Amino acid sequence: MLAPILDGKRILLVISGGIAAYKSLDLIRRLRERGAAVRCILTEGGAAFVTPLSVAALSEEKVFMDLFSLTDESEMGHIRLSREADLVVVAPASADILAKMAQGLADDLATTALLATDKPVLVAPAMNHMMWAHPATRANIASLEAQGVRRVGPESGDLACGEVGAGRMAEPMQILAAIEAQFAERTSLAGRRALVTSGPTHEPIDPVRFIANRSSGRQGHAIAAALAQRGAATILVSGPSAEPDPAGVEVRHVETAAEMLAACRAALPVDVAVCAAAVSDWKVANPATQKLKKDVTADGAPPKLTLAANPDILASLGGAGNRRPRLVIGFAAETENVVENATAKRRAKNCDWILANDVSPGTGTFGGRENTVHLVSADGVEDWPTLSKQAVAERLAERVARHLAAAS
Ligand code: C5P
Repeated sequence: MLAPILDGKRILLVISGGIAAYKSLDLIRRLRERGAAVRCILTEGGAAFVTPLSVAALSEEKVFMDLFSLTDESEMGHIRLSREADLVVVAPASADILAKMAQGLADDLATTALLATDKPVLVAPAMNHMMWAHPATRANIASLEAQGVRRVGPESGDLACGEVGAGRMAEPMQILAAIEAQFAERTSLAGRRALVTSGPTHEPIDPVRFIANRSSGRQGHAIAAALAQRGAATILVSGPSAEPDPAGVEVRHVETAAEMLAACRAALPVDVAVCAAAVSDWKVANPATQKLKKDVTADGAPPKLTLAANPDILASLGGAGNRRPRLVIGFAAETENVVENATAKRRAKNCDWILANDVSPGTGTFGGRENTVHLVSADGVEDWPTLSKQAVAERLAERVARHLAAAS
């Protein structure tokens, strides 16, 4: 009896050029046996190793080959092709297609679909060992991993070129296991409730002016999306941000820290709370109800703003007594002594984990697309490599799922 996890799942399989393409025929067969629907894109290189007829016969679907085929585009545009899948698998993934993916090139149907997809991508590299070890390939793989692309293999052994080394495509059963693991992950937070704060807060000075900061909301939104993708019922409490609402997430839009705190309290109980918002530490004590005029002071001097402390939302969740989420996670954006300060913050705010990141000028973290974090917990400090904010979110969501599963 085969595990039902792939039953009804839709896989888009990209077969690029390489002798290992013959193994992809077996992969199609195994996927079909398990109830998955498999659509294939065969690149020009791939078609030099396996025939469209074999691929079509095994997948029981039309094979897509040509970006500029009017028939293909009218029947199934490349965008639809990439969106209608649950998972995109590139096997074999040649050095060439990996380089194109890393650079965002789109010069054929396969690379165009890969650039257009909003679905997870798994690659099974296959190439000569010198090509695999080349710094250019290493950099491309690092860049793809930072983008959240998953990889299975390659293996070491005899290569088709007669040389020996790392570069042999993973066996179909290994690729299948990686595909199944990818789907299993999507239910790893099923039945859990998650709360995420994101973005800056706006603290009014008067009805048209406010105090804010440069937070984009990218990291928090990505975390909410990653938790929801794993099946958690996720509430995102977001300050003003240009980021779109993540799919499958319940979003509460707020402006001030006080509103953010109220929305977070209303979201309880949850299993996990992640406070990624850059909450303004202060608010204006008495915001004006009318727009302040230039001549607001008798002597023409600029008005003085009196600030008052904002509530600390993370500390409030960490100390929420019997409503405390099982896992409370905060961020510590520091410009010096990053880990030391984060460790102290973890204790002070009574949270379980702190993701410490360096936001010194020049790191580009605040408002940027990448993040270098250190996970500080009671068990110590774990240094993560520089990753895209999406990949940080993926890793964090996986850690959360593992932690909750182990704790329950
Ligand atoms: O104290 P600091 O602002 O450095 O702490 C950062 C962490 O605390 C972040 O997780 C942030 O979301 C959270 N925080 C909060 N409410 C505040 C200030 C910070 O939730 N008023």
